[in-house]
Amino acid sequence: HEYDVQRLRSISVRVAEEAAELAEKMRNEVVAEGVVDTKSTETDVVTAADRAVERLIRDRLAELRPGDPVLGEEGGGAVDQEGLRWVVDPIDGTVNYLYGHPDYAVSIAVQFNGVSLAGAVVEPRSGRVWSAADGRGADLDGRPLEVSTARRFDLSLIGTGFSYLPERRGRQAALLTELLSEIRDIRRGGAASLALCAVAAGWTDGYYEHGLSRWDWAAGSLIAAEAGARTRLPAAGSADGLGDEAILCATPGIADELTRALLERNAAAI
Ligand code: IPD
Ligand code: CA
Ligand code: CA
Ligand code: CA
Repeated sequence: HEYDVQRLRSISVRVAEEAAELAEKMRNEVVAEGVVDTKSTETDVVTAADRAVERLIRDRLAELRPGDPVLGEEGGGAVDQEGLRWVVDPIDGTVNYLYGHPDYAVSIAVQFNGVSLAGAVVEPRSGRVWSAADGRGADLDGRPLEVSTARRFDLSLIGTGFSYLPERRGRQAALLTELLSEIRDIRRGGAASLALCAVAAGWTDGYYEHGLSRWDWAAGSLIAAEAGARTRLPAAGSADGLGDEAILCATPGIADELTRALLERNAAAI
């Protein structure tokens, strides 16, 4: 490709910042109005803000990058797109948003043939801006990010998350119950993009989850990778035994151990 990845990165930051402003502005009204729709289950919620924020992002991208295809959680589109495509999660952590919990984010990435070139994750409440571009590093509010130097899996802090589907949740919980006695502790923040950014910053040593969608990981996985994390994305194929649905992201010192721990517990079946 011939794209200027730093320019794409600044577009993703700019649009995500604007989107973050709208999300915060809408929050009181959304909490009063509540859930407007549900998806896979009654706990898999959509609010008016999820839709309005995605609409704003699509409008801004159409102005700044006319004609570029967009895949978004709420609006769909551009599935299996060759070439350039924007991948948008307007509100990652909708349940947190609905509760007034500060950990939620706007996530925007641009991919080429399914591989992230640039992306931004913006936290509306704190104003934190995470971004990265392929080969150009990752930063938080302008400061370069680097993963932790952890080497001991038994002392590692690992992030994870759970699917909205009850059956899968049960299997995820069972695996986690076993894993807990092998590591220091776990963190479940409620926004996959931020769980990936946490690995980038060294706030956790690793992260794994099953059943994410592309918009959950497109920006955060690049930010983590550019900060030095080893990442294994969903749709990587099942050749490594982890199945099609696992995402793994870890500082290199514990990545093999995290992979082993999941393989031992037949994580592919989750
Ligand atoms: C969800 C969050 C959550 C993760 C789920 C995602 P949403 O995204 O990222 O942390 O565990 O798998 O679906 O629905 O809040 O955008
Ligand atoms: Ca999400
Ligand atoms: Ca979302
Ligand atoms: Ca959602």
